[in-house]
Amino acid sequence: MTQLPAAQTAQMKPSGSGRALYGGKGTRRITVRDIAAAKERGEKWPMLTAYDAMTASVFDEAGIPVMLVGDSAGNCHLGYETTVPVTLDEMTMLSAAVVRGTSRALIVGDLPFGSYQEGPVQALRSATRLVKEAGVQAVKLEGGERSHDQIRLLVESGIPVMAHIGLTPQSVNAMGYRVQGRGEEAAQQLLRDAKAVQDAGAFAVVLELVPAELAAEVTRVLHIPTVGIGAGPETDAQVLVWTDMLGLTGGRVPKFVKQYANLREVMGDAVKAFAEDVVGGTFPQEENSVH
Ligand code: KIV
Repeated sequence: MTQLPAAQTAQMKPSGSGRALYGGKGTRRITVRDIAAAKERGEKWPMLTAYDAMTASVFDEAGIPVMLVGDSAGNCHLGYETTVPVTLDEMTMLSAAVVRGTSRALIVGDLPFGSYQEGPVQALRSATRLVKEAGVQAVKLEGGERSHDQIRLLVESGIPVMAHIGLTPQSVNAMGYRVQGRGEEAAQQLLRDAKAVQDAGAFAVVLELVPAELAAEVTRVLHIPTVGIGAGPETDAQVLVWTDMLGLTGGRVPKFVKQYANLREVMGDAVKAFAEDVVGGTFPQEENSVH
């Protein structure tokens, strides 16, 4: 594998700004250089998905430093069963909304299934749309060794890339939703994938649903940050799908999710109270009326 040009590696070097990603004072947007500096300091950071401007503005005000406009929007926002049907047009529209709703977080736009698998040139064309039309500061794509050349061309073209290995939901029809990296051979493949995306110039890598010990090893071996989801406590960052962690998702959520609120109940109760007020004639009151 060839070395990245000096200009690209310089781009990934920490800025040395010393700005904490969470709880730091700065008001400008977080950059990939801030992310690299956090890894050098051994600082952990949180990441959440976001799919619309208003929710993203809440997370931005709460200090979430990195938001992912994930193609989990397919299941969590658009009503699809999986992420597979999500289109680049949909991701562009959702990503633009999240960018408009935020001023501080680094926004990562997900490349959906079918928008980069043909090869590096297709990946560059798709990523360019997310950067130019939606205004994201970075893109994410799935795959380790198999996506090396796509990542390399995007990074050489000036587009920061977050990689995603382990369980890759766009491949659900081939791999299902199973823990990845179990057993010696699978663990070695995950390590090769992690090194391949780092070598290609990715600024961070998502590890989804892999054994905690293996995620810890990958985190030790790599100089870029690992972002865990169902990957134990040792990764540099943790990401959750916001509708899962705030309890809006209906039905069962995966074991690795911690629910910090029950928005489904809060919203359902409020909506019923409104409906009962309307039916009972107690809304609107005088203070809700104009004359
Ligand atoms: O699409 C998504 O939300 C993701 C996260 C689960 C990492 O890929």
